[in-house]
Amino acid sequence: MKVALVGYGTVGKSVYKMLEKAEGLTPGKVLVLPEFYTAPFQTTDYNDILNDAETEAVVECITDIKCGYEYAKAALEKGKHVVSSSKAMVAVYGPELNKLAREKGVAFLFGAACGGSMPILFALSQSRQMDEVQSVSGILNGTTNYMLDSMQRKGCTYEDALKVAQELGYAEADPTADVSGQDPLRKIMLACAVAYGVLPVDGLNREGIESLTAADVNHFAPKGKVCRLIAKGGKNDDGSVYAYVEPVLFPKNAPECSVLDNNNLAKSVCKYNGSLVMIGQGAGGDPTASNVLRDLINIKTGYCHFLPAKCEEGAAHNENDVHRYYVRADEKDLALFPAEEVEQTGDVYRLITAPIAVSKMHQLAADIRAEGRKVFFAAVAE
Ligand code: HSE
Repeated sequence: MKVALVGYGTVGKSVYKMLEKAEGLTPGKVLVLPEFYTAPFQTTDYNDILNDAETEAVVECITDIKCGYEYAKAALEKGKHVVSSSKAMVAVYGPELNKLAREKGVAFLFGAACGGSMPILFALSQSRQMDEVQSVSGILNGTTNYMLDSMQRKGCTYEDALKVAQELGYAEADPTADVSGQDPLRKIMLACAVAYGVLPVDGLNREGIESLTAADVNHFAPKGKVCRLIAKGGKNDDGSVYAYVEPVLFPKNAPECSVLDNNNLAKSVCKYNGSLVMIGQGAGGDPTASNVLRDLINIKTGYCHFLPAKCEEGAAHNENDVHRYYVRADEKDLALFPAEEVEQTGDVYRLITAPIAVSKMHQLAADIRAEGRKVFFAAVAE
């Protein structure tokens, strides 16, 4: 199968390299912007790809959401399979492109958009068809895991850890998407879309690691706690979906704490299958490209859709999931939280709360910040 590419950045270069060696796949043209044109296998005219009858599939791996969508849509309309690694694009246009692909009788897969190298979405789409997915959760951002791990094990500062993660090619072009939790939130949105046919776009809660300090990490260590950024999605008892991202404190022997560097961990819990955990490279050119290649091989075997035929946007309902939280806050805000333990160091207060609903905890933090004060929180894994 001849495969064209849109984009020749970190992922695109690795995909091209792997296509040259893969069994039954050959690289076609690569669309690049005029300023990046360097070789004859590249083109600056998308029509060279769209009008090439031998090109059966297009891999879309660019950052721009709208352009990525336009390229993907045009390829599907021409009857070509589309594989995307662009989580931001699929988290907006996934349901529409899924519908179009099905109308045109071609594939639309995006395994590399969630979990780097790991076939999380592939496994979830199979589970949806044969089982009942109860929840999916884990470490879905390599950049922040690299940062948290470097701060904890090597004593790096937040800024230095982020700089190295950028140099190693883990971070997004704008790393705000990583540290704010937007990137793992998009991934858990996609996981929900695959598992439940609902892409949650409203009611989501997101807390990244921007408010975390080295002092917090130093406070956790003697207590045997390790902080990880966790994305979680699942089904409530009433059939609605929940989806959120927040830091979580784990006891140091928990599996999440042995996930080092840029690795990711994804855990799905299904009614019949029970729980299944995958650990693997969550970011970087080659690992992400390997998931793109997996999609292409799946297409050759006739596996064409992660999303169910009916997949629509919906709302997340995060009122039912409750956790105890570690909260670092000013004295003025202490009364907002039902505290079970309080520790004071100078004018810094650290408390462990009684169980609070996820949506309530995120709202309390937003209210405090709206008044210009600082707060950090992390759920305490039980
Ligand atoms: N910036 C992303 C991450 C890349 O750090 O996980 C992989 O999706």
